[in-house]
Amino acid sequence: LPEQLLSGKKIAITAGPTREALDPVRYISNHSSGKMGFALAAEAARMGAEVTLISGPVNLPTPAGCQRVDVTSAQQMLDAALAVATEQDVFIGCAAVADYRAANVASQKMKKQGEQLSIELVKNPDIIATVAAQSEATFVVGFAAETQQVEQYARSKLAAKGLDMIAANDVSNSSIGFNADDNALTVFWPNGQQAIAQASKQQVAAQLLQLIQQQIQP
Ligand code: C5P
Repeated sequence: LPEQLLSGKKIAITAGPTREALDPVRYISNHSSGKMGFALAAEAARMGAEVTLISGPVNLPTPAGCQRVDVTSAQQMLDAALAVATEQDVFIGCAAVADYRAANVASQKMKKQGEQLSIELVKNPDIIATVAAQSEATFVVGFAAETQQVEQYARSKLAAKGLDMIAANDVSNSSIGFNADDNALTVFWPNGQQAIAQASKQQVAAQLLQLIQQQIQP
């Protein structure tokens, strides 16, 4: 049964944005809806996998059969990922992690000041690269949102982050970008590539999981 293709496999998926506090009432984030990561979690569970869904702040219900871990910041997402990564067969990094956080988080609400305000930012850890470096046996899959030279940028991320596979989408096409219900991917791994045509995120998720399943077969 295709439904049981991932039976016995453990899969962890990061999804949604992260939120980086500036003070008790303000934050830096992005427009990630979490839809692609939640679709992957739902499909992986339907295919028989044991799914851990590590989610940033999103407005989506937990897919049936998934264990959900809610986090806010990139550092919390890293901690949640590292807590489960080594025991996973597959780790999929679908989250839109904020690249930077405030160097200092104000403990009180910041007051209005002059005409200009500068905030010092420091780089966040790369969650998927850290997981790939620490979990030799886990098949690690990343995403790459690109607007040009998709293959070149995706393949350099595959290598730089130490991934086993990367799914690239062309975010210059607004029908498949942030918050869209559809997606289209080109998937790259060291010895191959495969296009997944535009379809619902649910259908695209099922096809990506089938590609992953083919690559992890002994
Ligand atoms: O480098 P870039 O952000 O384009 O890479 C995207 C991929 O890396 C996605 O799989 C995303 O989830 C992951 N990522 C991460 N931690 C970061 C930045 C990106 O896990 N700090």
